[in-house]
Amino acid sequence: MSEDGDRADSLKLHLDKASSARIYDYMLGGRGPNNYAIDRVFGDVQGKVLPTMQPAMRENRRFIGRAVEAALELGVRQFIDIGSGLPSLGQTHEVADRVAPEAKAHVVYVDNELIANAHSEILLGEEAEPERHQAVLADYFAYGQLWRKVLATGLIDPKQPVCLMVTAVLHFMLPEDRPDIPLDYYRRKLPSGSLLVLTHALDDPEDEGLQQVARAYENTTSPAHLRTNEEIRSFFGDWELLEPGLTWTGLWRPKEDRSVEPWWEDDTRDLPPGETWWGNNEAAMIYRAGVARKP
Ligand SMILES: C[S@@+](CC[C@H](N)C(=O)[O-])C[C@H]1O[C@@H](n2cnc3c(N)ncnc32)[C@H](O)[C@@H]1O
Repeated sequence: MSEDGDRADSLKLHLDKASSARIYDYMLGGRGPNNYAIDRVFGDVQGKVLPTMQPAMRENRRFIGRAVEAALELGVRQFIDIGSGLPSLGQTHEVADRVAPEAKAHVVYVDNELIANAHSEILLGEEAEPERHQAVLADYFAYGQLWRKVLATGLIDPKQPVCLMVTAVLHFMLPEDRPDIPLDYYRRKLPSGSLLVLTHALDDPEDEGLQQVARAYENTTSPAHLRTNEEIRSFFGDWELLEPGLTWTGLWRPKEDRSVEPWWEDDTRDLPPGETWWGNNEAAMIYRAGVARKP
C-alpha cells in the first residue's frame, strides 16, 4: 500500500475510536477543538467510574512542570518529549520558557497519533518558535527511525545532555511489545548527565474503579497495561533516581505555593466547598513519577 493509503487507514483508525491523546486533552481542559465527542464521552463516563482520574491527570501535568524546572536547574536545556500528546496547558516548552526564558530551551515533541501531531504542528506554528520547538510524527517502537527524525530537526545536540520525557505513555504499551527495548536504546543514545522523566499508572488490583477504566481503554486506540512499582522502576535502568525517588506525582518535590502551577477553572468541581483535589493526595495516587540521571 502507498504511504498515502497507510496514512488514510491510520487516520480512520484514529477517528473511529477514542484516543488516549485526545481523552487526556479533554480531561486537562484542552484548548480549542482538539478532542472529539467520542473522546469526551469516554472521559465523562470513565471519570465517573474513577473520580480521581481527571485530578490525577492534572497532577501529572503539574509534575511535568516541576520536572522541567528541575532539569533546567541542572543545566539541561534540550528536551525530547515522546508521547507528548496535544499541546495543552503546561506543555514542556511553555513551562521551560516561563521558568527559564534565558535558557532558550529546545523541545522536540514526538507522538505517533496523526491528529495529535497535526494539532501540535498547528499550535506550535501559532505559539512557538520553530527554531527551538518542533513536533515530529514517529512511533516510540520504531526507535531508529524516531531518533533519526528527532535529530533531523536540528534542534538537539546529541553530545549535550538531554532531558527525555516519557510521561503517561508506557502504560499504553503491552509487555509483549517490549517497551523496555526502545527505552534502552534511547537511554544508550544519550550522553552522561542526561535525564529521564517518567510517569506511569500503578497497578492496584484492589481498586475496582482503576481496573474498570484500564479495561475500558481496550476499546480506544491505546489499550492500557498497569504495572507494579518494581516494573516501573526498571524502566530507569541503571540511571540514578533524583530525590525523592519514584513516588506519586503530587509528592515529587511539591511546591509550597501551588498557585504558581497550572490551574483549571473546574478543579474543585464535585468537591465539598473549601476542598481541592490538589490539596488531597488521593488525586496523586494513580501515577508514579520519577526523574533519573545518567551517570
Ligand atoms: C496520555 S498522553 C500523555 C501526554 C503527555 N506525555 C503528558 O504526560 O502530559 C499519551 C500519549 O502517548 C502517545 N503514544 C502512545 N503510544 C505511542 C507510541 N507507540 N509512539 C508515540 N506516541 C505514543 C499517545 O498518542 C498520546 O498522545
